[in-house]
Amino acid sequence: MLDCKYSSLRTHMTQQLGPELEGQTVTLSGWVGKRRDHGGLIFIDLRDRTGIVQLTFDPDQSGSAFALAEAVRPEWVIEVTGTVGLRPAEAVNPHIPTGNIEVHVTQLDVLNISKTPPFEIEDGIDTDEAVRMKWRFLDIRRPEIANILKLRSDVTAAFRSSLIEKGFIEVETPILTKSTPEGARDFIVPARHTPGKFYALPQSPQLFKQLTMIGGLERYFQIARCFRDEDLRADRQPEFTQVDMEMSFVTQDDVMNLTEDVLAEVMKVVDYQLPQPLRRMTYADAMNNYGCDRPDTRFDLLLQDISEWASSTSFKVFAQAPKDGGVVKTICASGAGDWARSKYETLNQRAIDAGAAGLAWMAFPTELADGETITDQVKSPIAKFFTAEELEALKDATGAQAGDALFFVAGKRDLANEVLGVIRLELADLLEIKREGFDPLWVIDFPLFMRDEENDRWAANHHPFTRPFDDQVSKIEEDPASVLAYSYDLILNGFEIGGGTLRIHNEDLQLRVLAQLGHQLEQAREEFGFLLDALSYGAPPHGGIALGLDRLVMIMAGRDSIRDVIAFPKTSSGADLMTEAPDKVTGKQLKEVHLRLL
Ligand code: AMO
Ligand code: AMP
Repeated sequence: MLDCKYSSLRTHMTQQLGPELEGQTVTLSGWVGKRRDHGGLIFIDLRDRTGIVQLTFDPDQSGSAFALAEAVRPEWVIEVTGTVGLRPAEAVNPHIPTGNIEVHVTQLDVLNISKTPPFEIEDGIDTDEAVRMKWRFLDIRRPEIANILKLRSDVTAAFRSSLIEKGFIEVETPILTKSTPEGARDFIVPARHTPGKFYALPQSPQLFKQLTMIGGLERYFQIARCFRDEDLRADRQPEFTQVDMEMSFVTQDDVMNLTEDVLAEVMKVVDYQLPQPLRRMTYADAMNNYGCDRPDTRFDLLLQDISEWASSTSFKVFAQAPKDGGVVKTICASGAGDWARSKYETLNQRAIDAGAAGLAWMAFPTELADGETITDQVKSPIAKFFTAEELEALKDATGAQAGDALFFVAGKRDLANEVLGVIRLELADLLEIKREGFDPLWVIDFPLFMRDEENDRWAANHHPFTRPFDDQVSKIEEDPASVLAYSYDLILNGFEIGGGTLRIHNEDLQLRVLAQLGHQLEQAREEFGFLLDALSYGAPPHGGIALGLDRLVMIMAGRDSIRDVIAFPKTSSGADLMTEAPDKVTGKQLKEVHLRLL
């Protein structure tokens, strides 16, 4: 608890004051917030980390403090002594916890002055984020940011205590290390003692945590900083924090149950009771129904497969796709039937940007004349390709009603799912569908491999150390696409907040998977020799998971950007606007690490 035990320049924090202290003399320290001159009386809001309290200065009772109070300005640092008084009824401020009291100041010391801050230090300001980031130390002074950092600290503490209580050992793994393949680009650091060689910053502690299992620790965790050089978005930073865990002698259910129990403890911080056991959805179902492997399940707008209907119609685009092994899928959006044409065309463009040939649409307006059915009134560039019976059958197949619109993608299954997954989220925004509360779930049974079309090869879906289903190991070489993995992602409100797998604990199997990923024996030994060695010295069955701490706290705090929950975040181009990192280095520094700039 934040009290004054180790803070001699005060007797109370502002939020420790209440009407029960009426008449008591207190000493407070903090920053000057709002200051109001009310002809004769001066009011100052004094802020410390716990909140604010009103100070009053009276020319008759405050002595020399009154003159000083006229001179102080926002963000000056002051120490005051005075007596706690009740505010007159008409002056009570119901919006702050100390709103029914004030402190009548008798002594004021200025501990430091301040320049005029570049923005107001208060909640709810609309200052440009870049300005707040440049002056982040002032931004953190704002209660809404300080409170998030406190929440983050509470969440981290809850993880730690819950894991330690369950027998986990906290281990720190190296930051200067070798590349760990998590699918992003590495940040690299030149090694001065070995010209031409580089460390890589860890994309995750994956291999080290497996090595702690082979080292016999049985239960490992780490609040681990990870570094990934990838394109940034609102939920991605180049350095971020994982709650990283690993366990030996476990099944997939063990890791999932443990994660749920720990998360339940952590979510108590925001008074949320985790529904246990959490819902589980297979990857295949997530993709087919939501078009996304991290579905936001707080609303429906599910993808429907209408290939059967489409294949018997005379619209070539629709009839052909199923014949070519593809699908025709649709989303029925209620409330979208009366839009202006341009809105549908905007979505069409969005689908094309996402890789589709197009997004066909049909809108069924709400207003119908007597005796008309919705298909009489359909608005659509493709309606002319269908007979009245075909439209009726479509209506029955999709459940479309007056006021609804259908959005279609015809093509390969994966593409149709993915594009409609994007359109589904756009629709939720356009229809202003309310998405409140928490809806956590597991997505499980991911494929072991995914096709890297660009490079015409197989890639690991999670990472190369993921264990295939025992009864599917034989298909690794002949039918890699069909092999599923012991894998589980934790999803919350459309964000992937965690991911984990059981690991391969057998050297031969690891080599087979690496070979399928294009690492022939020699190369595998070169890159992962230490792991392969370890697997050949009695590696126990093991598995684990990593939760994205920044994302979890972002959702718990109800924010839209993980920058809000990181004390000193980076911009979308990876810059720290406050320190101005990344920055130049001197020629001497480059020479020391044997580098020359191109
Ligand atoms: P994965 O790559 O899924 O798994 O990462 C785990 C979790 O970390 C979070 N995360 C990020 N958060 C912010 N910015 C980023 N750039 C970023 N990248 C990932 C996500 C994600 O779910 N070694 C495996 C874990 C394991 O198998 O045990 C791993 O790193 O919330
Ligand atoms: P067209 O006959 O090519 O002008 O296409 C008619 C409509 O179908 C347009 O609105 C296109 O955007 C849409 N469209 C074209 N290809 C596809 C497809 N593969 N899936 C869904 N809609 C498509």
